[in-house]
Amino acid sequence: MPHLISASILNADFSCLKKEIEMINSSETDWFHLDIMDGVFVPNLSFGFPVVEQVKKYATKILDVHLMIVEPDKFVERFREAGADILTVHYEVCPHLHRTIQNIKSFGMKAGVSLNPHTPVSVLEDIIQDVDLVLLMTVNPGFGGQKFIENSYAKITRLKKMIVEKGSSAVIQVDGGVDLSNTRKLVNAGVDVLVIGSFIFKSDNPLDTISKLKKA
Ligand code: DX5
Ligand code: ZN
Repeated sequence: MPHLISASILNADFSCLKKEIEMINSSETDWFHLDIMDGVFVPNLSFGFPVVEQVKKYATKILDVHLMIVEPDKFVERFREAGADILTVHYEVCPHLHRTIQNIKSFGMKAGVSLNPHTPVSVLEDIIQDVDLVLLMTVNPGFGGQKFIENSYAKITRLKKMIVEKGSSAVIQVDGGVDLSNTRKLVNAGVDVLVIGSFIFKSDNPLDTISKLKKA
């Protein structure tokens, strides 16, 4: 399948969010990526339900919600109500990951699991058949605009091999430091969905940038 782009709005201009949403709607972007941070799991705060609800109101594309929070189970239903189509939790904060994944699916959402840069993909061996998406963090989570971690290619290759061997239908998503210089290499390594934030929203011509990223 051709690679998908999930636009992270973390670096969008929140003073004119509706305009930013409409720009993404009219672009070749496939999904909206919404980063939820709690100041506990990651050293930053972002936004919560009111913003997700506003994005849902105007977005014409899938809402891909990335929870960088502890105890995500508490909020699964609320994120569904706010408009999430895909809900991704971090492996590092889920002692009962299998239960969390089933919980997300029970509300009709696709379930994703995310790994920090230091977490090996081998921890997913016994859950890979149950997840719809694996998000490999290619920077340390918490901030947009960071430098891509090169070790990520080896992780992508190992994850792809595991998915094929286990007959899983999980898609591989990467998040952090993605731009035109590494898009093709990431797709060749096995990535299905690229989360891209600052490279889109800080570009002079976001629509043209997205088009180039889709063609890369
Ligand atoms: C980082 C977030 C990312 C971030 C990506 O913790 O999960 O989604 O917004 O931003 P860029 O593309 O700027 O690295
Ligand atoms: Zn993210």
